[in-house]
Amino acid sequence: MTNDQNQGKVLTLVVLISGSGSNLQSIIDAIADRTIKARITAVISNHSDAYGLERASKAGIETIVEPHQQYSDRKQYDQVLARHVDRYSPDLIILAGFMRILSPWFVTRYSGKILNIHPSLLPKYKGTNTHQRVIDAGETEHGASVHLVTEELDGGPIVIQARVPVERDDDAESLRRRVLEQEHIIYPQAIKLFAQGKVPTE
Ligand code: GRF
Repeated sequence: MTNDQNQGKVLTLVVLISGSGSNLQSIIDAIADRTIKARITAVISNHSDAYGLERASKAGIETIVEPHQQYSDRKQYDQVLARHVDRYSPDLIILAGFMRILSPWFVTRYSGKILNIHPSLLPKYKGTNTHQRVIDAGETEHGASVHLVTEELDGGPIVIQARVPVERDDDAESLRRRVLEQEHIIYPQAIKLFAQGKVPTE
């Protein structure tokens, strides 16, 4: 046993992904080495070729693919998504590179129960292309944030952040890699904070 969490209940997680799933992997690993006491009950992807699906299968986790292209309406897709999620009644929904904006309907339905990881020191650099924007702005510091998801895009209460220096010779890719290493550390930590009831509500 590696921490005090082992006395508590097992937190159930549903993880939403769209791509590589390296953050998903960090959570799978943190569960395996008992850094966090949780169970991923399903991984849902909107892309059938997301590598994260293979990571999930390898770990024996149920996977669901729900492509979004056939839905013209955001809420309509999110209702289908919610039907999948509700089959597992998770304690927490983890957005790990899920490249879709969730509707206010979905966010409200699971209010206080959705975490997202964003590659910037929020509230700075919301949105996409953060690493290049940080370089273009001449910042000396960058990082990643885990936050609760609210209706405001990348705007919910911050749970934990990690900082990295921006080096003189960095390009967007080298910076992305340095930030991603930190993401893999802080996302499991954020889940642990949630389990301990230490996540801010506002
Ligand atoms: C990460 O950079 C995360 O911050 C952002 O999407 C990327 C997902 O990467 N939300 P991965 O799929 O976890 O490797």
